[in-house]
Amino acid sequence: MKRMQAAENHIALLEQKRESVEEALIAHVDNASSGDNSEIMALAKQVLLAGGKRWRPILILLSYSIAGGEDENDVMPLALAFEMIHTATLVHDDINDGAKFRRNIPTLHERYDSARALIAGDYLFVEGFGLGGRYDEQIVSLMAECCAQIASAELMQLRHIGDLATTPEDYYQIISGKTAGPFEAGCKAAALVAGADIEMAKILGQFGLELGIAFQIVDDLLDIEGDERMGKPRGADVIEGKMTLPLIHSLTLSHGDDRRRLAEVISNFHDGLWGELTNLLNRSGSIGYASTLVKNHLTRALDALFQFPESDSRNALEWLTNQVMGRHD
Ligand code: IPE
Ligand code: IPE
Ligand code: MG
Ligand code: MG
Repeated sequence: MKRMQAAENHIALLEQKRESVEEALIAHVDNASSGDNSEIMALAKQVLLAGGKRWRPILILLSYSIAGGEDENDVMPLALAFEMIHTATLVHDDINDGAKFRRNIPTLHERYDSARALIAGDYLFVEGFGLGGRYDEQIVSLMAECCAQIASAELMQLRHIGDLATTPEDYYQIISGKTAGPFEAGCKAAALVAGADIEMAKILGQFGLELGIAFQIVDDLLDIEGDERMGKPRGADVIEGKMTLPLIHSLTLSHGDDRRRLAEVISNFHDGLWGELTNLLNRSGSIGYASTLVKNHLTRALDALFQFPESDSRNALEWLTNQVMGRHD
């Protein structure tokens, strides 16, 4: 009973943070919707306000709070900056991946064309830096560095499309750059805005990094297992030739006919092969392996989090961390 009450409190706090992010985003969009940039904002806001989960800005608000920050207005521009930059990367990533849906609506390049989607993504990037540029140089550098890492990771991912020799190390390098790096930078920057010392900021960064790794492995698992709540269709990764952890693991552990067949299935994938792929992945224990790694990263994330004193915000972050596994289970 007590536990249920506690869960309700965490959900209420997270909901409150989500609402303040949503309100601030809408206010920012409204502000930019009447001037010279109204046309580009009309395009960008379709995806920006389409109902993302807002994990990054929520993490930033809560990280700021556990690091001792008291005035949320001080950190809100940073939270919005990270959400805008994240949305920019999604718009561009969807062009490259040929994705048809994002956040439950058709992608901008599907609805309009790639040229417009490209410009909308550029605009979102610039808006993000406009908001983040008001902070100290140290924080602006963190943002710039994490964007550079996203770009490098996306390039590396392209290089490994359809590459059956991709190693777990390659995979980790890609997901650390494209997903976990921004989680790390966001949490660390939030701690710095709160006035925390660099050691504590690094520990919060470590929390974000481990959480982000787990978050991306789960995203990759959900792509294989399928989940309509995702707001994007399942199976896109295998169809694109993206080498995710369960595939990499299975290619390493399978042998004989299974290994040969797995390579064929991955290289010539189509919808009719789902059952066979799932069977092969299960035979090598690859879904279970990826799930175990998710648990390990979440444990490390919690180890970092628990270096901060207990508070409502820390409890909410702990709850959110445990949700990453729940997204998959
Ligand atoms: C999608 O991120 C890209 C990944 C890193 C897996 P989210 O799952 O956070 O997407 P939104 O923001 O909720 O749409
Ligand atoms: C995350 O990778 C995208 C970026 C961080 C740019 P994915 O390609 O796996 O994300 P989804 O699955 O399209 O949301
Ligand atoms: Mg994608
Ligand atoms: Mg994905």
